[in-house]
Amino acid sequence: MPLKDKIEERTAKIGVIGLGYVGLPLAVEFANSGFEVVGVDVARKRVENLNSGSSYIDDAPSSDLVKVIKKGLFRATTDYGVVSELDVINICVPTPFTKSKDPDISYIVNSSQQISKYLKKEKLIILRSTTFPETTEKIVLPILERNGLKVGRDFFLAFAPERIDPGNKIYTTKNTPVVVGGVTPKCSTLASALLKKIVDKVVPVSSPRVAEMTKLLENIYRSVNIALVNELACLCERMGNVDIWEVIDAASTKPFGFMPFYPGPGIGGHCILVDPYYLSWKAKEYDFHTNFIELAAETNENMPFHVMESLIEGLSERGLCASKAKILILGVAFKKDVSDTRNSPALKLIELLKNRVAKLTYNDPYVPEISVNGVSYRSLELTANRLKSADCVLIATAHSSYDYKWIAKHARFIFDTRNATKDVKHPSKILKLGNPLS
Ligand SMILES: NC(=O)c1ccc[n+]([C@@H]2O[C@H](COP(=O)([O-])OP(=O)(O)OC[C@H]3O[C@@H](n4cnc5c(N)ncnc54)[C@H](O)[C@@H]3O)[C@@H](O)[C@H]2O)c1
Repeated sequence: MPLKDKIEERTAKIGVIGLGYVGLPLAVEFANSGFEVVGVDVARKRVENLNSGSSYIDDAPSSDLVKVIKKGLFRATTDYGVVSELDVINICVPTPFTKSKDPDISYIVNSSQQISKYLKKEKLIILRSTTFPETTEKIVLPILERNGLKVGRDFFLAFAPERIDPGNKIYTTKNTPVVVGGVTPKCSTLASALLKKIVDKVVPVSSPRVAEMTKLLENIYRSVNIALVNELACLCERMGNVDIWEVIDAASTKPFGFMPFYPGPGIGGHCILVDPYYLSWKAKEYDFHTNFIELAAETNENMPFHVMESLIEGLSERGLCASKAKILILGVAFKKDVSDTRNSPALKLIELLKNRVAKLTYNDPYVPEISVNGVSYRSLELTANRLKSADCVLIATAHSSYDYKWIAKHARFIFDTRNATKDVKHPSKILKLGNPLS
């Protein structure tokens, strides 16, 4: 049966390579819509846990996983040999950067090499990992064609960037449009037909390059705008009489042409921090310097240092010496209401503060333990006594489950980098990022 018909009848067997924050929810989504799905991951323990119905991803809870396993619609394996049985293969492997912030696409290369070993005719491969323009056509395609199969004729290849926003309850896979660029028109048509089975709106573009660049534009847009408000937050601190949070709230009342972004102790996660570097690296191939990207990165990366300096100054203004101070950090995930700590600015703050303060502890309802530069920390229970005994409570990530009024009642001094205490009535004990120091 042609692949198009198998997709229409939901008899196409779907593969998802990489069962992380992107791959696992995608796999469950396909299974929920009636497709048989096989996930492939190199992490053996993860695969075992998933097969026993235990998920570690909030957006694909164990209850959902168990349902699709029971229906026989999902299983996971470490064996790439399964590719020969699959009709569609979604690649959802990591695309991190190296220590010197160059793109590391080795995961894409490795998984493409594995797929090519088992590739047969009438297969559709969709790269979902974020990457720089031309990865699909100049890196993945030659690997897949090296055994003599021809794209557009024997197999089909497209890029469709993942837009999942972990923890977002309003915009899910279903109601977030997906952009698709195929290597040939037939590649686009097939990839669009497949994605329409799980997403309300599919937006075809003329090539994988356009789809790759689209994803980078989306994340660079966020990085640049966050950098802008971070810079203005620092300006407001220096001016001493303008509150950046009040300014942003006021500007947000404009019904057109303005979208609020908020300052913070830095940016983290797998996307906004990492992706801009993919484009600035690629741009150099064309003797082009992406100044906005570099400036935004510099501004955002400076924020944890700025928070550390402000914290030390804030302690000093209260007659406390940082080297004798006990600091309790609230929230170490990279953003609120998730457990993901990848590139979290809170981890950078811990790294920076560790040797500058007497004692550093943390609480995060989503993150039971963390390791920073080889040192392990456990989340401590949040009690009134613990709040009272800290010289400063540093709010790094504003989880919704925290009771900020209760925290402010018991804490002696709070440094709030997220405006989490906006409804709290103890201004004298709260220092806020973007507000004057004293
Ligand atoms: N996390 C997000 O919010 C998000 C959103 C949109 C796009 N993305 C992009 O999606 C991609 C995946 O990100 P993620 O957050 O899901 O990563 P992740 O680290 O959570 O998951 C990746 C998975 O791939 C597995 N893996 C690594 N190498 C493999 C290989 N060769 N074969 C099979 N499995 C392999 C890992 O074991 C892991 O389970 C990245 O390009 C990222 O930029 C992420």
